[in-house]
Amino acid sequence: MMKTLSSFLILLLFVAPPLSVAAKRPVRAKHGMVVSADANASNVGVQILKKGGNAVDAAVAVGFALAVTFPGAGNIGGGGFMVIRMADGRTTTFDYREKAPASANSTMFLDEKGNFVPSRSQDGYLACGVPGSVAGMVMALERYGKLDRKTVLQPAVDFAAKGFRLSHEFADELKADMRDILKYPSSAKAFTKEGRPYDEGDLFVQKDLARTLQRIQRKGRDGFYRGTTADLIVAEMKRGAGLITKDDLASYVAVERPPIRGTYRGYEIVSMGPPSSGGMVLMEMLNLLEPFDIAGSGFGSSKTIGLMTEAMKLAYADRAEFMGDGDFYPVPVGRLISKDYAAERRVLLDSSKATPSRLLGHGAIEIKEGMHTTHYSIVDQWGNAVSVTTTINSWYGNKIVVDGAGFFLNNEMDDFAAKPGAPNQFGLLGGSANSVQPNKRMLSAMTPTIVLKDGQPYLIVGSPGGSTIITSVLQVVLNVLDHRMNVAEANEAPRFHHQWMPDTIQCERFGFPKDVIQNLEARGYAIRPRGGTLGRIEAIQIDRKNGFLFGATDPRGYGAAVGY
Ligand code: GLY
Repeated sequence: MMKTLSSFLILLLFVAPPLSVAAKRPVRAKHGMVVSADANASNVGVQILKKGGNAVDAAVAVGFALAVTFPGAGNIGGGGFMVIRMADGRTTTFDYREKAPASANSTMFLDEKGNFVPSRSQDGYLACGVPGSVAGMVMALERYGKLDRKTVLQPAVDFAAKGFRLSHEFADELKADMRDILKYPSSAKAFTKEGRPYDEGDLFVQKDLARTLQRIQRKGRDGFYRGTTADLIVAEMKRGAGLITKDDLASYVAVERPPIRGTYRGYEIVSMGPPSSGGMVLMEMLNLLEPFDIAGSGFGSSKTIGLMTEAMKLAYADRAEFMGDGDFYPVPVGRLISKDYAAERRVLLDSSKATPSRLLGHGAIEIKEGMHTTHYSIVDQWGNAVSVTTTINSWYGNKIVVDGAGFFLNNEMDDFAAKPGAPNQFGLLGGSANSVQPNKRMLSAMTPTIVLKDGQPYLIVGSPGGSTIITSVLQVVLNVLDHRMNVAEANEAPRFHHQWMPDTIQCERFGFPKDVIQNLEARGYAIRPRGGTLGRIEAIQIDRKNGFLFGATDPRGYGAAVGY
């Protein structure tokens, strides 16, 4: 009997698909790769690449497609950042972050006693910043794309006009937010069946959104920031005493900015600068960690987690103090990302035990979850690489659909520091660097990043997750560069997060063995397993020697890596 069983097990070893290994195997392709949080959108990207479009064309097509097929986070009513590395060596970024309306002010989210009222910055009309996505994507397409707007927007128009079948996840997510969606007649009209929730398998058609996309297709940014769409946005604002005016819309400009650049163990890091904190915090953490033997101390060991946690605390403490919109506040970018500065800060980094965050700063706050942004990564046949993170902040933003235009607005105003010491929905603190000011962009944590090896793109990576975006990106970067995981293994590996305040390591449930957690607790760390997961990375790794692109969507989500 035993012999039969062992022969069966041996046979199984040879014939059964190695499931755990298969789950950690990236998608492989020769010519192009698109990894996004939604399979429809990834397929749109590949369709554009196959038509001869480059990675920027595909990125813009994917961005508009996500606004239709992934409206919880994909958007035209929000903002984002695009990091580009062209095959000829040029690197650049597009900042299309939302901005505060001209009539915004620093007390707009406080009550008469001066207390911060989170519902004002998180829910409803006042929570909405002036959208930037359309301006940014149109500008990137004009400057770096090869195809015309008609071609690039057509897949999104088709999805909206002809509809698509709803996945289980899409229907489920809509149901989860039904109460908020029903509060606004325009949202109920666009996202319910006359008040009843959509079900898996339903054909979901968005005629108003299709018309909005067609106006953008015809007129570019003017199809959104002027004329009918602008009129509809302003009419929506008036229904709820929102602040956004026609002037706010007409004066919105996306900005092409140089990226944040640094190095880590000989690899070059290209990421997003202000108004994102992402690139600066990522670079500061990498600089702090560089002298330590991360590979030697091992993935997931208490030593490695302790070390990374101390680096996270120091960088997030700097985020709260120094980071905001660089057009309004003198963010000391050069110093924050320099090796010298990291060497000075490293004096505070005790790798043997927890240094209480209060010794590095102050405050005690509670953090909420956030997974309400989305990332996508693209590489084309020429080797152009694009890394985009885009957001309407919370899932379905402020939950308000612009009546007649068919898209959700953002609640990005909550990313400002409404009051020094008062945490936003991600538990993040800030001060004057990130205070509300008219026309200012709110600080972001989005970290679209491209890692170069020997001067060529090697890893394209980014994530949603509010404050946890930057630490999720850090972990995948270290998993690939230090622990030598393939991109799927790096993506699947358990994650943790520390953001200085609150002074707690959040870790994924069942992510780390009990003895690792006990070791960390013995060294003074407070550990809190988290209900949900951390980050949703969509990444591509390039094997230049063998001519392969490897794509991996995060198993925490339901996206797709599609290559050809
Ligand atoms: N709204 C999330 C972020 O920009 O960081």
